[in-house]
Amino acid sequence: MTVPLFDNETPRAPLRAEIMRRIGEVVERGRYVLGPEVEAFEQELAAYLGVRHVVGVANGTDAITIAIRALGVQPGDEVVVPSFTFYATAEALVTAGARPVFCDVDLDTRNVTADTVRAALTPRTRAIVAVDLFGCPAPVPELRELGLPVLEDAAQAVGSSLHGRRAGSLGDVATISFYPSKNLGCFGDGGAVATDSDRVAELARTLRFHGSHDKRTFDLVGYNSRLDELQAAILRVLLPELDRWCEGRRSAEGAYAAAGLADHVMPPVVPAGATPAWHLYVVRHAAADELIARLRESGIESRGYYRTPLHRQVAMARWGASATLPVTDELARSNLALPMSPVLDGDQAQQVVAAIASALAR
Ligand SMILES: Cc1ncc(COP(=O)(O)O)c(C=O)c1O
Repeated sequence: MTVPLFDNETPRAPLRAEIMRRIGEVVERGRYVLGPEVEAFEQELAAYLGVRHVVGVANGTDAITIAIRALGVQPGDEVVVPSFTFYATAEALVTAGARPVFCDVDLDTRNVTADTVRAALTPRTRAIVAVDLFGCPAPVPELRELGLPVLEDAAQAVGSSLHGRRAGSLGDVATISFYPSKNLGCFGDGGAVATDSDRVAELARTLRFHGSHDKRTFDLVGYNSRLDELQAAILRVLLPELDRWCEGRRSAEGAYAAAGLADHVMPPVVPAGATPAWHLYVVRHAAADELIARLRESGIESRGYYRTPLHRQVAMARWGASATLPVTDELARSNLALPMSPVLDGDQAQQVVAAIASALAR
């Protein structure tokens, strides 16, 4: 039996009839952009996250560009950002005119720390981006004590929490992706900006519609970046299931632990007070690529993430070439994501761990 890296389809299958009904309602109504579904979803997600405002946008990348501008970052300003993350995190800053300054991460949690961020601060730093990587919240409260606005990139982490507060509510502003493979994935592209600040929310709303308040006068050069009605209608069906799905992901982690995973590879370390949502379950091993190839022969899908970290990407050379980030380089070399989903069960976890043990015994 093969074990896939992701499985969002099985948990969504029982909802299909309801999703089709809600899509039908949108089509009957004939309103497709910025209508009642987006408005209702924004309120429902804000209530779920425990924030005052959610602004639906076209994807998680635009969410970062819009959020960093809404925080007041201007062209040429420096923004500290981890190098060990998906490319979009830094790309979106450059789109906004900011200069990314890459910082290192912690080997065990894979997230930035107050120390790694502090090492990258200069008098020109105007904001910090913390990524809740792989679904585990970054130490955002400690970062906020550094005295600069923090953008929490929670693209991978909706459904997780830190000291009882949800990822997506931890920063001055947070961004979320609804890309289909994400924990809360829609049927196309989608994203959101979440914040407690009236000012940041108002600016984000303006920026997502060409920099206009009233659709007739234009105060800023913005974007055409809206969450559409069909995706919002689908997300309204999925959101009530999110906590149960994240519980399933944590059960899968428990099943891996019970099967003895830590005897063979190094699992991620969960910081005190964190309840992760395991978008990806990423372990480490010195011979990660050989292990991935051997697991494939046993029908187990696994994948190395961010093998070329951002400070080493060609497009980021101008900002990244001078960075020295030893932990990032080590993580980039040695990580592999194992199968993870809300429905990964004990038998599958045992199958994965047995395949790892036999691959490493060869
Ligand atoms: C950490 C992180 N930030 C940003 C994004 C961008 O989101 P999107 O693909 O919706 O633009 C992603 C995912 O794709 C991501 O994993």
